[in-house]
Amino acid sequence: MSTETAPPIPAVQTHGLTRMYGSIAALSGLDLTVNKGDLFGFIGSNGAGKTTTLRILATFLAPSAGSAQILGYDVVRDADAVRHVIGYMPDFFGVYKDMEVTEYLDFFGACYKIPTAQREKTVNDVLELVGLSEKKGSLIGALSRGMQQRLGLARVLIHDPQLLLLDEPASGLDPRARIEMMAILQELQRLGKTIIISSHILSELQTLCNRVAIIEKGRLIYSGPVQGVRDQMSQGRVIWVRVSSDSAKAIELLKSRTEIADAAASDGEIKVTLAGTDPDHSIVADILVHGGAKLIELREDEIGLEEVFMRVTRGETQ
Ligand SMILES: Nc1ncnc2c1ncn2[C@@H]1O[C@H](COP(=O)(O)OP(=O)(O)OP(=O)(O)O)[C@@H](O)[C@H]1O
Ligand SMILES: [Mg+2]
Repeated sequence: MSTETAPPIPAVQTHGLTRMYGSIAALSGLDLTVNKGDLFGFIGSNGAGKTTTLRILATFLAPSAGSAQILGYDVVRDADAVRHVIGYMPDFFGVYKDMEVTEYLDFFGACYKIPTAQREKTVNDVLELVGLSEKKGSLIGALSRGMQQRLGLARVLIHDPQLLLLDEPASGLDPRARIEMMAILQELQRLGKTIIISSHILSELQTLCNRVAIIEKGRLIYSGPVQGVRDQMSQGRVIWVRVSSDSAKAIELLKSRTEIADAAASDGEIKVTLAGTDPDHSIVADILVHGGAKLIELREDEIGLEEVFMRVTRGETQ
């Protein structure tokens, strides 16, 4: 099952995807690849073009230029086939407040032509998946916001789609409901679904997703593994060091080396700034130990996706 051993198979590929609104480009030449089995984070600030992209992939919006394929189907030419293999959860969806949970899902099951005899089981299965089995007979209007979001997710699962396009499914949820939503998405990934989830809350995608794309003003800034974003941004990484020997001597030792951009005493510790982008920071320990310093502690400042995002988009957003 490891994605490292088998070559990845693309589930979504876009080429030069562009969408104009008058003279304004909501999306400019987006080249994106999402592989089968990915839990893919689509990150961007307000107005970056996330919803525009997802609506095009969901066949609800035509691109002005470029193309997009989903599991081999073209979103314009093969729109019907695309709709069968995707489940699209829009950022805002109306709920039928006076309908019961099962009625609502049964209705969508009928829309997808799931035979009546099979529908009850299908509805039960998706309710189980999203943890709403106990709310079967409830009116939708009586469900909490988090439960309504999970019901929205159940709805897009009803025809067992291979690819889920989820536009900010956790927006407006409290921290606990967010965590529940994320756990459901991880479970869906385990079941073999490919999932694209958009968000501007980066920290929650950082641990959830295996790959991310960052867009800003309709342009792709980064696409690849989450770790890769950090590596790409790792210039000037900071390592904190504590020694029990003479720290002034240790600082001198570090400063004499080209691999180290700077070393300075800070609050009983030594703040070491690396010169290169090599993710291996064992060079710091090597220098100190070989120079006779007594190393007690060495730790790296973890760069969060938030920080990375701020760095990557700084030029664009000013
Ligand atoms: N129907 C429309 N008419 C004109 N401009 C639009 C329309 N829909 C979107 N836009 C513009 O396209 C750009 C991208 O919008 P989009 O909704 O895709 O961004 P987003 O990343 O989903 O933002 P948010 O985080 O606020 O949901 C924005 O500048 C927006 O104003
Ligand atoms: Mg949006």
